[in-house]
Amino acid sequence: MAKALNAQAAAAYAVAQIIKNGRSLSQTLPEAIGRLQHPKDQALTQELCYGSLRWWPRLTLIISQLLQKPLKPKDQDIHALLIIGLYQLEYMRIPAHAAVSETVTATNALGKQWAKGLVNGILRTFQREQESLAAEVAKDEEASCAHPRWLLERLKTAWPEQWRTIMEANNNRPPMSLRVNQCATNRDSYLQSLANTELAAHPAPYATEGITLEQAVAVERLPGFEQGMVSVQDTAAQLAPGLMALQPGHRILDACAAPGGKTCHLLESCPDIDLYALDQDPERLTRVEENLARLSLNATLITADAGEPGQWWDGKPFDRILLDAPCSATGVIRRHPDIKLLRQTDDIDKLVQQQQKLLHALWLLLRPGGILVYATCSILPQENTQQVMNFLEQQQDASEIQIDEDWGHYQTAGRQILPGEDEMDGFYYACLVKA
Ligand SMILES: C[S@@+](CC[C@H](N)C(=O)[O-])C[C@H]1O[C@@H](n2cnc3c(N)ncnc32)[C@H](O)[C@@H]1O
Repeated sequence: MAKALNAQAAAAYAVAQIIKNGRSLSQTLPEAIGRLQHPKDQALTQELCYGSLRWWPRLTLIISQLLQKPLKPKDQDIHALLIIGLYQLEYMRIPAHAAVSETVTATNALGKQWAKGLVNGILRTFQREQESLAAEVAKDEEASCAHPRWLLERLKTAWPEQWRTIMEANNNRPPMSLRVNQCATNRDSYLQSLANTELAAHPAPYATEGITLEQAVAVERLPGFEQGMVSVQDTAAQLAPGLMALQPGHRILDACAAPGGKTCHLLESCPDIDLYALDQDPERLTRVEENLARLSLNATLITADAGEPGQWWDGKPFDRILLDAPCSATGVIRRHPDIKLLRQTDDIDKLVQQQQKLLHALWLLLRPGGILVYATCSILPQENTQQVMNFLEQQQDASEIQIDEDWGHYQTAGRQILPGEDEMDGFYYACLVKA
C-alpha cells in the first residue's frame, strides 16, 4: 500500500485492520495517522474511523442492499472504504461531490484500482436511493439500533426499562472530561483557567475533581496539561478513590492499572500511600509510567499476572486493593465504538471466569479489615452484581460495604452507572471488606 494516504484511505486501513485482525482502534488509528500525506487530515481520519464504527451495523446493512455480490474476504478494506463513504454522505457536512471523489481516489492508495467504479457506483446509488434504503434500515433492529444483535438481546434482558436509552447513549459522541490534579490546583481555579483560555466547561456533579468540557479539544490546548495540572478521564472513572477510604501510609495494590488513570488519581487523592501498580501488559504499563512522570507521582510498577500472586507478591498484605477488572467494556461503547465489532457474545463467559479468578486470587492478599474495590466499565450484570454476589457466597470472610451515594443505580451488590447518566460512562463499583 502507498505510504501517503488521504484521510479516507487511512481510515479504511485502520478499520480494515480491526475487522481482519481483531486489533483495536486505539492500536490501528495511530498507525493510519502516521501514513497520512497531509498531517492536517488527522482530525478527519479520526472522525471517519469513529463515525463509521459507531454506525457500522446500520451502514453494513445498506452496503449489503447495494452490492450485487458480496466482496471477497481479502477486500475488507474496500468494505471499510464503502462504509466510510456512506458515513460521510449520511452523517457529515462534507460536500457530497468531495466525499465521493476522495473516497474513490482512496482506492488507488489501497492498491485496489479495480474498485474505483464499484465505489463510485455504490456511493452514487446511495445518494439516489437514500430514502428507500432508510426504510430497509427501519425494518431491521440490528441496523436501526446500530448494535450487534447479541448485545441488544443482553441489554434488553438486563435493562428492560433502560435499554433504548443505553443504546442511544452508546451511539452518541462522549463528552471530554477532565480530572483536576488536587495536588497542583483546585477545580474552581482550573475552571477559571479554562474560562481564561475561552474553553467552556462545567463541574461534574459527582466527581469532586471532575470537569466536563463543552467541546473536545487537543490536550495541548488545556492549560497546564504538560505541567500535570489536569488529566483526561471520564467522570465515572473518577469515583474510585472516594470508595477506598485511603489513609497516609496505606499499602495499596492497583491490580489492573494500565494506562494508569486511577493509579494517578489515587496518588493525587492521598500522596502518602505506598502504591503498587500492576498490569500484565508491559506496553500498557509504559503508559502508567508516562502518566506518573507527567504528574510527578511515584508508584512501584510490576509487570505480572495479578491472578498468579505466587509469581510476584512479596507476602506483605495490602490495606486496600483496587481491581479495575478486564471486562466487556460495554459501558464505554460511545468512546470505543470498535467494541461493536470486536466483542462477541462468547467473550462474556470467558471474561466472567477471568474476573472471578482475579477476585479470589487478590482477596488472599488483603489484610483483615482491608477493603477491595471491584470496578468494571461493563453494564452486564454477569460481570458486575452477579459476579460480586457469587464471590460473597463463596468467600465467608467477605462482606459488602454498601455504597451510600446518589450516582448510578442501587444493585443487590454494588452500584451501576449506565452510559450517558450525568454525562458519565457506564461503570460498576462494589466495595468489599475482609472480616
Ligand atoms: C480496564 S483496564 C484498567 C484501566 C486502569 N485501571 C485505568 O484506570 O487507567 C484493565 C487492565 O487490566 C489488565 N489485565 C488484564 N488481565 C490482567 C491480569 N490477569 N493481570 C494483570 N493485569 C491484567 C489489562 O492489561 C488492562 O490494562
